[in-house]
Amino acid sequence: MSKLWAGRTSGVTDKVADDFNSSIHFDHRMYQEDIKGSMAHAMMLGAQGIILKEEADTLIQGLEEILADLNSGALSFDFSCEDIHMFVEKVLTERLGDVGKKLHTARSRNDQVALDLRMYLKNQVNQIVTKIKALTEAIVNKAEEYKTAIMPGYTHLQRAQPVTFGHQLLAYCMMLLRDIDRFTDCYKRMNVSPIGSCALAGTTYPTNRELEANALGFDGVTQNSMDGVSDRDFVVETVSCCSLTMAHLSRFAEELILWTSWEFSFVELSDAYTTGSSIMPQKKNSDMAELIRGKTGRVYGDLMAILTVLKGLPLAYNKDMQEDKECVFDAVDTLNACLDVCIPMVATMRAKTENMAAAAKKGFINATDLADYLTKKGIPFRTAYKITGSIVGDCIKQGKILEDLTLAEYKAYDPTFEEDLFTAIDMVTCVNKRESVGGPAASQVEKQIAYVRSKL
Ligand code: ARG
Repeated sequence: MSKLWAGRTSGVTDKVADDFNSSIHFDHRMYQEDIKGSMAHAMMLGAQGIILKEEADTLIQGLEEILADLNSGALSFDFSCEDIHMFVEKVLTERLGDVGKKLHTARSRNDQVALDLRMYLKNQVNQIVTKIKALTEAIVNKAEEYKTAIMPGYTHLQRAQPVTFGHQLLAYCMMLLRDIDRFTDCYKRMNVSPIGSCALAGTTYPTNRELEANALGFDGVTQNSMDGVSDRDFVVETVSCCSLTMAHLSRFAEELILWTSWEFSFVELSDAYTTGSSIMPQKKNSDMAELIRGKTGRVYGDLMAILTVLKGLPLAYNKDMQEDKECVFDAVDTLNACLDVCIPMVATMRAKTENMAAAAKKGFINATDLADYLTKKGIPFRTAYKITGSIVGDCIKQGKILEDLTLAEYKAYDPTFEEDLFTAIDMVTCVNKRESVGGPAASQVEKQIAYVRSKL
Protein backbone atom coordinates (compact mmCIF):
# COMPACT_ATOMS: atom_id res chain seq x y z
CA MET A 1 0.00 0.00 0.00
CA SER A 2 1.31 3.49 -0.82
CA LYS A 3 1.88 5.80 2.11
CA LEU A 4 0.63 9.29 3.01
CA TRP A 5 4.30 10.19 3.02
CA ALA A 6 4.93 8.93 -0.54
CA GLY A 7 6.94 11.71 -2.17
CA ARG A 8 10.62 11.40 -2.54
CA THR A 9 10.12 7.64 -2.60
CA SER A 10 7.33 5.62 -4.13
CA GLY A 11 6.02 4.94 -0.63
CA VAL A 12 5.80 1.29 -1.54
CA THR A 13 7.47 -0.76 1.15
CA ASP A 14 7.97 -4.43 1.73
CA LYS A 15 5.35 -6.13 3.91
CA VAL A 16 8.00 -7.31 6.36
CA ALA A 17 9.36 -3.76 6.62
CA ASP A 18 5.84 -2.39 7.06
CA ASP A 19 5.11 -4.68 9.97
CA PHE A 20 8.45 -3.95 11.52
CA ASN A 21 7.99 -0.22 11.17
CA SER A 22 4.40 0.13 12.28
CA SER A 23 3.29 1.04 15.77
CA ILE A 24 -0.49 1.09 15.38
CA HIS A 25 -0.93 -2.23 17.16
CA PHE A 26 0.23 -0.58 20.36
CA ASP A 27 -0.27 3.16 19.84
CA HIS A 28 -3.97 2.87 18.87
CA ARG A 29 -4.70 3.04 22.58
CA MET A 30 -3.92 6.79 22.30
CA TYR A 31 -6.69 7.40 19.75
CA GLN A 32 -8.69 9.73 21.98
CA GLU A 33 -5.66 11.87 22.75
CA ASP A 34 -4.66 11.90 19.09
CA ILE A 35 -8.10 13.04 17.93
CA LYS A 36 -8.50 15.64 20.69
CA GLY A 37 -5.03 16.97 19.86
CA SER A 38 -6.02 17.24 16.20
CA MET A 39 -9.24 19.07 17.07
CA ALA A 40 -7.24 21.66 19.04
CA HIS A 41 -4.80 21.92 16.15
CA ALA A 42 -7.57 22.55 13.63
CA MET A 43 -9.10 25.14 15.94
CA MET A 44 -5.75 26.93 16.24
CA LEU A 45 -5.16 26.85 12.47
CA GLY A 46 -8.60 28.43 11.96
CA ALA A 47 -8.16 31.03 14.70
CA GLN A 48 -4.80 32.10 13.25
CA GLY A 49 -6.15 32.35 9.72
CA ILE A 50 -3.79 29.61 8.52
CA ILE A 51 -6.83 27.78 7.17
CA LEU A 52 -10.36 29.14 6.75
CA LYS A 53 -12.60 29.18 9.81
CA GLU A 54 -15.14 26.99 7.94
CA GLU A 55 -12.43 24.51 7.06
CA ALA A 56 -11.43 24.32 10.71
CA ASP A 57 -15.04 23.69 11.69
CA THR A 58 -15.36 20.96 9.07
CA LEU A 59 -12.18 19.28 10.35
CA ILE A 60 -13.33 19.46 13.97
CA GLN A 61 -16.74 18.05 13.04
CA GLY A 62 -15.11 15.22 11.09
CA LEU A 63 -12.74 14.42 13.93
CA GLU A 64 -15.61 14.41 16.42
CA GLU A 65 -17.40 11.87 14.26
CA ILE A 66 -14.35 9.65 14.00
CA LEU A 67 -14.00 9.75 17.78
CA ALA A 68 -17.66 8.87 18.25
CA ASP A 69 -17.45 6.06 15.69
CA LEU A 70 -14.35 4.57 17.30
CA ASN A 71 -15.96 4.79 20.73
CA SER A 72 -19.13 3.09 19.52
CA GLY A 73 -17.30 0.49 17.47
CA ALA A 74 -18.88 1.72 14.20
CA LEU A 75 -15.33 2.34 12.98
CA SER A 76 -12.49 -0.07 13.64
CA PHE A 77 -8.76 0.41 13.45
CA ASP A 78 -7.01 -0.36 10.22
CA PHE A 79 -3.88 -2.14 11.33
CA SER A 80 -2.32 -1.76 7.92
CA CYS A 81 -1.79 1.92 8.76
CA GLU A 82 1.64 2.82 10.12
CA ASP A 83 0.46 4.43 13.31
CA ILE A 84 -2.55 5.98 15.00
CA HIS A 85 -1.73 9.41 13.58
CA MET A 86 -1.74 8.15 9.99
CA PHE A 87 -4.92 6.18 10.60
CA VAL A 88 -6.91 9.17 11.84
CA GLU A 89 -5.66 11.42 9.05
CA LYS A 90 -6.46 8.76 6.47
CA VAL A 91 -10.04 8.26 7.67
CA LEU A 92 -10.54 12.02 7.91
CA THR A 93 -9.39 12.52 4.34
CA GLU A 94 -11.52 9.63 3.08
CA ARG A 95 -14.53 11.20 4.74
CA LEU A 96 -13.91 14.90 4.03
CA GLY A 97 -11.89 14.90 0.82
CA ASP A 98 -9.30 17.64 0.22
CA VAL A 99 -10.03 19.63 3.35
CA GLY A 100 -8.84 16.62 5.39
CA LYS A 101 -5.44 17.11 3.85
CA LYS A 102 -5.13 20.52 5.53
CA LEU A 103 -5.05 19.18 9.09
CA HIS A 104 -1.37 18.40 9.07
CA THR A 105 -0.38 22.02 8.26
CA ALA A 106 2.27 23.34 10.69
CA ARG A 107 2.54 19.99 12.41
CA SER A 108 4.67 16.86 12.28
CA ARG A 109 4.11 13.41 13.69
CA ASN A 110 7.15 14.19 15.81
CA ASP A 111 5.40 16.84 17.88
CA GLN A 112 2.08 15.01 17.50
CA VAL A 113 3.31 11.80 19.10
CA ALA A 114 5.06 13.72 21.88
CA LEU A 115 1.77 15.51 22.54
CA ASP A 116 -0.35 12.36 22.48
CA LEU A 117 1.93 10.52 24.85
CA ARG A 118 2.01 13.39 27.34
CA MET A 119 -1.78 13.60 27.27
CA TYR A 120 -2.13 9.85 27.68
CA LEU A 121 0.34 9.64 30.55
CA LYS A 122 -1.18 12.62 32.34
CA ASN A 123 -4.42 10.63 32.55
CA GLN A 124 -2.59 7.52 33.62
CA VAL A 125 -0.70 9.36 36.35
CA ASN A 126 -3.96 10.84 37.66
CA GLN A 127 -5.56 7.41 37.70
CA ILE A 128 -2.56 5.84 39.44
CA VAL A 129 -2.49 8.56 42.09
CA THR A 130 -6.19 7.95 42.79
CA LYS A 131 -5.49 4.24 43.21
CA ILE A 132 -2.43 4.74 45.43
CA LYS A 133 -4.62 6.97 47.60
CA ALA A 134 -7.24 4.23 47.81
CA LEU A 135 -4.60 1.69 48.82
CA THR A 136 -3.16 4.04 51.44
CA GLU A 137 -6.69 4.52 52.77
CA ALA A 138 -7.23 0.75 52.98
CA ILE A 139 -3.92 0.30 54.83
CA VAL A 140 -4.52 3.17 57.25
CA ASN A 141 -7.93 1.71 58.09
CA LYS A 142 -6.27 -1.59 58.98
CA ALA A 143 -3.65 0.30 60.99
CA GLU A 144 -6.44 1.90 62.98
CA GLU A 145 -8.11 -1.48 63.52
CA TYR A 146 -4.86 -3.05 64.77
CA LYS A 147 -3.23 -0.07 66.45
CA THR A 148 -2.87 -1.95 69.75
CA ALA A 149 -2.07 -5.41 68.31
CA ILE A 150 1.42 -6.09 69.64
CA MET A 151 3.78 -8.02 67.40
CA PRO A 152 7.55 -8.40 67.15
CA GLY A 153 9.27 -5.86 64.96
CA TYR A 154 12.14 -7.47 63.01
CA THR A 155 15.62 -6.60 61.92
CA HIS A 156 17.58 -9.17 59.88
CA LEU A 157 14.25 -11.07 60.02
CA GLN A 158 15.09 -11.77 63.69
CA ARG A 159 12.70 -10.64 66.40
CA ALA A 160 14.00 -7.28 67.57
CA GLN A 161 11.68 -5.00 69.54
CA PRO A 162 7.95 -4.83 70.16
CA VAL A 163 5.79 -2.79 67.79
CA THR A 164 2.15 -3.00 66.84
CA PHE A 165 0.70 -4.27 63.59
CA GLY A 166 -0.80 -0.80 63.16
CA HIS A 167 2.62 0.79 63.49
CA GLN A 168 4.14 -1.54 60.91
CA LEU A 169 1.29 -0.97 58.45
CA LEU A 170 1.69 2.78 58.78
CA ALA A 171 5.27 2.46 57.53
CA TYR A 172 3.77 1.41 54.17
CA CYS A 173 1.41 4.39 54.22
CA MET A 174 4.44 6.69 54.47
CA MET A 175 6.07 5.05 51.44
CA LEU A 176 2.87 5.39 49.44
CA LEU A 177 2.47 9.06 50.40
CA ARG A 178 5.94 9.69 49.00
CA ASP A 179 4.93 7.82 45.84
CA ILE A 180 1.93 10.11 45.46
CA ASP A 181 4.24 13.12 45.84
CA ARG A 182 6.59 11.77 43.22
CA PHE A 183 3.85 11.10 40.67
CA THR A 184 2.38 14.55 41.33
CA ASP A 185 5.77 16.13 40.76
CA CYS A 186 6.35 14.14 37.59
CA TYR A 187 2.94 15.31 36.36
CA LYS A 188 4.03 18.96 36.64
CA ARG A 189 6.91 18.53 34.21
CA MET A 190 4.76 16.44 31.88
CA ASN A 191 2.11 19.13 31.78
CA VAL A 192 3.68 21.32 29.08
CA SER A 193 2.70 21.00 25.44
CA PRO A 194 5.25 20.17 22.74
CA ILE A 195 2.81 20.73 19.86
CA GLY A 196 4.02 23.45 17.53
CA SER A 197 7.61 22.24 17.71
CA CYS A 198 6.73 20.61 14.38
CA ALA A 199 9.39 18.29 12.95
CA LEU A 200 12.18 19.90 15.03
CA ALA A 201 12.59 23.50 13.90
CA GLY A 202 9.20 25.07 14.50
CA THR A 203 7.42 26.65 11.56
CA THR A 204 7.08 29.76 9.41
CA TYR A 205 3.28 29.73 9.82
CA PRO A 206 1.91 32.20 12.38
CA THR A 207 0.87 29.48 14.83
CA ASN A 208 -0.28 30.08 18.40
CA ARG A 209 1.19 27.34 20.57
CA GLU A 210 -0.28 28.71 23.81
CA LEU A 211 -3.79 28.71 22.38
CA GLU A 212 -3.47 25.06 21.41
CA ALA A 213 -1.88 24.12 24.74
CA ASN A 214 -4.60 25.87 26.73
CA ALA A 215 -7.34 24.18 24.75
CA LEU A 216 -5.81 20.84 25.70
CA GLY A 217 -5.46 21.66 29.38
CA PHE A 218 -1.69 22.11 29.53
CA ASP A 219 -0.03 24.56 31.91
CA GLY A 220 2.28 25.95 29.22
CA VAL A 221 4.43 25.05 26.22
CA THR A 222 7.88 23.50 25.86
CA GLN A 223 10.54 26.18 25.36
CA ASN A 224 12.78 24.70 22.67
CA SER A 225 11.44 23.00 19.57
CA MET A 226 14.27 20.47 19.30
CA ASP A 227 13.82 19.50 22.94
CA GLY A 228 10.05 19.49 22.46
CA VAL A 229 10.21 16.62 19.98
CA SER A 230 13.09 14.66 21.50
CA ASP A 231 12.42 14.91 25.23
CA ARG A 232 11.25 11.65 26.76
CA ASP A 233 12.25 12.51 30.32
CA PHE A 234 8.58 12.39 31.23
CA VAL A 235 8.46 8.76 30.11
CA VAL A 236 11.52 7.88 32.18
CA GLU A 237 10.08 9.70 35.18
CA THR A 238 6.75 7.94 34.87
CA VAL A 239 8.35 4.51 34.64
CA SER A 240 10.71 5.42 37.47
CA CYS A 241 7.78 6.44 39.69
CA CYS A 242 6.05 3.19 38.73
CA SER A 243 9.20 1.24 39.61
CA LEU A 244 9.52 2.73 43.06
CA THR A 245 5.85 2.20 43.83
CA MET A 246 6.24 -1.39 42.64
CA ALA A 247 9.23 -1.74 44.99
CA HIS A 248 6.99 -0.70 47.87
CA LEU A 249 4.16 -2.98 46.81
CA SER A 250 6.64 -5.80 46.43
CA ARG A 251 8.06 -5.38 49.93
CA PHE A 252 4.54 -5.32 51.31
CA ALA A 253 3.65 -8.38 49.23
CA GLU A 254 6.70 -10.18 50.57
CA GLU A 255 5.57 -9.50 54.13
CA LEU A 256 2.08 -10.77 53.33
CA ILE A 257 3.61 -13.94 51.91
CA LEU A 258 5.63 -14.43 55.11
CA TRP A 259 2.77 -13.48 57.41
CA THR A 260 0.35 -15.88 55.74
CA SER A 261 2.76 -18.82 56.04
CA TRP A 262 2.23 -21.42 58.78
CA GLU A 263 5.58 -20.34 60.21
CA PHE A 264 4.29 -16.86 61.00
CA SER A 265 0.49 -17.20 60.85
CA PHE A 266 0.06 -13.51 61.51
CA VAL A 267 -2.39 -12.74 58.71
CA GLU A 268 -5.29 -14.44 56.98
CA LEU A 269 -6.13 -13.26 53.49
CA SER A 270 -9.67 -13.54 52.17
CA ASP A 271 -10.15 -16.71 50.08
CA ALA A 272 -11.00 -14.36 47.21
CA TYR A 273 -7.33 -13.34 46.93
CA THR A 274 -5.66 -16.73 47.35
CA THR A 275 -5.46 -19.93 45.34
CA GLY A 276 -5.31 -23.64 46.01
CA SER A 277 -3.03 -26.31 44.66
CA SER A 278 -4.04 -28.82 42.02
CA ILE A 279 -2.45 -31.64 44.02
CA MET A 280 -2.18 -30.57 47.69
CA PRO A 281 -5.67 -30.18 49.11
CA GLN A 282 -4.54 -28.30 52.21
CA LYS A 283 -2.96 -25.39 50.34
CA LYS A 284 -3.91 -21.74 50.48
CA ASN A 285 -1.36 -19.82 48.47
CA SER A 286 -0.84 -16.05 48.41
CA ASP A 287 -0.54 -15.97 44.60
CA MET A 288 -1.69 -12.36 44.22
CA ALA A 289 1.05 -11.14 46.55
CA GLU A 290 3.60 -13.34 44.79
CA LEU A 291 2.58 -11.94 41.42
CA ILE A 292 2.90 -8.38 42.68
CA ARG A 293 6.40 -9.27 43.86
CA GLY A 294 7.18 -10.95 40.54
CA LYS A 295 5.76 -8.24 38.30
CA THR A 296 8.01 -5.70 39.99
CA GLY A 297 10.87 -7.19 37.99
CA ARG A 298 9.26 -6.47 34.65
CA VAL A 299 8.56 -2.84 35.56
CA TYR A 300 12.24 -2.43 36.48
CA GLY A 301 12.95 -3.94 33.06
CA ASP A 302 10.74 -1.29 31.44
CA LEU A 303 12.78 1.41 33.17
CA MET A 304 16.05 -0.06 31.96
CA ALA A 305 14.60 -0.35 28.44
CA ILE A 306 13.58 3.28 28.07
CA LEU A 307 16.78 4.59 29.65
CA THR A 308 18.81 2.48 27.27
CA VAL A 309 16.79 3.52 24.21
CA LEU A 310 17.48 7.19 24.93
CA LYS A 311 21.15 6.79 25.68
CA GLY A 312 23.22 8.06 22.77
CA LEU A 313 20.32 9.33 20.61
CA PRO A 314 21.34 12.41 18.65
CA LEU A 315 18.83 15.26 18.42
CA ALA A 316 16.11 15.47 17.39
CA TYR A 317 13.52 12.75 16.64
CA ASN A 318 14.79 9.26 15.82
CA LYS A 319 12.61 6.26 15.14
CA ASP A 320 14.16 4.56 18.16
CA MET A 321 11.79 6.74 20.15
CA GLN A 322 8.84 4.70 18.96
CA GLU A 323 10.17 2.13 21.43
CA ASP A 324 9.17 4.42 24.32
CA LYS A 325 5.55 3.40 24.25
CA GLU A 326 5.47 -0.35 24.87
CA CYS A 327 7.60 -0.07 27.98
CA VAL A 328 5.72 2.80 29.53
CA PHE A 329 2.37 1.21 28.64
CA ASP A 330 3.51 -2.03 30.23
CA ALA A 331 4.69 -0.18 33.35
CA VAL A 332 1.43 1.72 33.89
CA ASP A 333 -0.70 -1.32 33.02
CA THR A 334 1.23 -3.50 35.44
CA LEU A 335 1.09 -0.99 38.27
CA ASN A 336 -2.62 -0.40 37.68
CA ALA A 337 -3.30 -4.14 37.79
CA CYS A 338 -1.27 -4.60 40.97
CA LEU A 339 -3.05 -1.72 42.69
CA ASP A 340 -6.43 -3.07 41.57
CA VAL A 341 -5.80 -6.39 43.30
CA CYS A 342 -3.89 -5.03 46.29
CA ILE A 343 -6.60 -2.60 47.43
CA PRO A 344 -9.37 -5.18 48.09
CA MET A 345 -6.84 -7.76 49.29
CA VAL A 346 -5.74 -5.39 52.06
CA ALA A 347 -9.28 -4.25 52.83
CA THR A 348 -10.37 -7.86 53.44
CA MET A 349 -7.32 -9.20 55.26
CA ARG A 350 -7.49 -10.16 58.92
CA ALA A 351 -4.71 -10.16 61.49
CA LYS A 352 -4.33 -13.13 63.85
CA THR A 353 -3.48 -10.94 66.82
CA GLU A 354 -3.19 -13.88 69.24
CA ASN A 355 -0.35 -15.33 67.15
CA MET A 356 1.35 -11.96 66.94
CA ALA A 357 1.13 -11.60 70.73
CA ALA A 358 2.48 -15.13 71.24
CA ALA A 359 5.42 -14.40 68.93
CA ALA A 360 6.07 -11.17 70.83
CA LYS A 361 6.40 -13.20 74.05
CA LYS A 362 9.29 -15.18 72.63
CA GLY A 363 12.52 -13.86 71.23
CA PHE A 364 13.45 -11.51 74.09
CA ILE A 365 12.17 -8.47 72.23
CA ASN A 366 11.93 -6.66 75.61
CA ALA A 367 15.66 -7.12 76.33
CA THR A 368 16.45 -3.53 75.27
CA ASP A 369 13.81 -2.39 77.72
CA LEU A 370 15.46 -4.38 80.51
CA ALA A 371 18.81 -2.73 79.75
CA ASP A 372 17.10 0.68 79.54
CA TYR A 373 15.54 -0.02 82.96
CA LEU A 374 19.00 -0.36 84.52
CA THR A 375 20.30 2.67 82.61
CA LYS A 376 17.48 4.83 83.92
CA LYS A 377 18.55 3.73 87.44
CA GLY A 378 22.03 5.08 86.82
CA ILE A 379 23.96 2.19 85.29
CA PRO A 380 25.83 3.15 82.09
CA PHE A 381 24.08 1.71 79.03
CA ARG A 382 27.02 -0.44 77.91
CA THR A 383 27.20 -2.09 81.37
CA ALA A 384 23.44 -2.55 81.47
CA TYR A 385 23.65 -4.09 77.99
CA LYS A 386 26.22 -6.66 79.22
CA ILE A 387 24.21 -7.60 82.32
CA THR A 388 21.06 -8.04 80.23
CA GLY A 389 22.97 -10.09 77.68
CA SER A 390 24.08 -12.58 80.31
CA ILE A 391 20.52 -12.80 81.71
CA VAL A 392 19.19 -13.54 78.21
CA GLY A 393 21.94 -16.13 77.67
CA ASP A 394 21.07 -17.92 80.92
CA CYS A 395 17.34 -17.80 80.15
CA ILE A 396 17.94 -19.44 76.77
CA LYS A 397 19.91 -22.25 78.44
CA GLN A 398 17.08 -22.78 80.93
CA GLY A 399 14.29 -22.46 78.39
CA LYS A 400 12.86 -19.41 80.18
CA ILE A 401 11.75 -15.93 79.16
CA LEU A 402 12.60 -12.70 81.02
CA GLU A 403 9.20 -12.64 82.72
CA ASP A 404 9.86 -16.11 84.30
CA LEU A 405 12.72 -15.01 86.57
CA THR A 406 12.03 -13.94 90.17
CA LEU A 407 13.18 -10.64 91.66
CA ALA A 408 15.70 -12.57 93.77
CA GLU A 409 17.16 -14.11 90.63
CA TYR A 410 17.41 -10.67 89.02
CA LYS A 411 19.11 -9.26 92.12
CA ALA A 412 21.77 -11.93 91.83
CA TYR A 413 22.77 -10.28 88.52
CA ASP A 414 22.58 -6.75 89.88
CA PRO A 415 21.23 -5.35 93.17
CA THR A 416 19.74 -2.35 91.33
CA PHE A 417 16.79 -4.48 90.16
CA GLU A 418 13.50 -3.79 92.00
CA GLU A 419 9.94 -5.09 91.67
CA ASP A 420 9.11 -2.36 89.09
CA LEU A 421 11.33 -4.13 86.53
CA PHE A 422 8.39 -6.39 85.70
CA THR A 423 6.30 -3.41 84.61
CA ALA A 424 9.25 -2.14 82.56
CA ILE A 425 9.50 -5.36 80.58
CA ASP A 426 5.77 -5.87 80.15
CA MET A 427 5.06 -5.80 76.40
CA VAL A 428 2.30 -3.23 76.71
CA THR A 429 4.63 -0.93 78.66
CA CYS A 430 7.43 -1.57 76.17
CA VAL A 431 5.25 -0.42 73.30
CA ASN A 432 3.49 2.46 75.00
CA LYS A 433 6.63 3.95 76.49
CA ARG A 434 8.08 4.25 72.99
CA GLU A 435 6.61 7.68 72.59
CA SER A 436 9.39 9.23 70.55
CA VAL A 437 8.04 10.89 67.41
CA GLY A 438 7.14 8.18 64.88
CA GLY A 439 7.25 5.43 67.48
CA PRO A 440 4.80 2.55 68.11
CA ALA A 441 3.18 3.98 71.28
CA ALA A 442 -0.60 4.30 70.92
CA SER A 443 -0.29 8.08 71.25
CA GLN A 444 2.22 8.23 68.38
CA VAL A 445 0.33 5.79 66.19
CA GLU A 446 -2.77 7.98 66.56
CA LYS A 447 -0.72 10.92 65.29
CA GLN A 448 0.57 8.92 62.33
CA ILE A 449 -2.94 7.85 61.42
CA ALA A 450 -4.11 11.47 61.56
CA TYR A 451 -1.10 12.54 59.45
CA VAL A 452 -1.78 9.96 56.75
CA ARG A 453 -5.48 10.84 56.64
CA SER A 454 -4.70 14.55 56.40
CA LYS A 455 -2.56 13.82 53.32
CA LEU A 456 -5.34 11.91 51.58
N1 ARG B 1 4.93 6.10 15.34
C1 ARG B 1 5.91 7.10 15.60
C2 ARG B 1 6.38 7.03 17.06
O1 ARG B 1 5.75 6.38 17.82
C3 ARG B 1 5.32 8.46 15.36
C4 ARG B 1 6.31 9.50 14.96
C5 ARG B 1 6.87 9.17 13.63
N2 ARG B 1 7.67 10.21 13.10
C6 ARG B 1 8.44 10.04 12.04
N3 ARG B 1 9.13 11.01 11.64
N4 ARG B 1 8.52 8.88 11.43
O2 ARG B 1 7.40 7.56 17.43
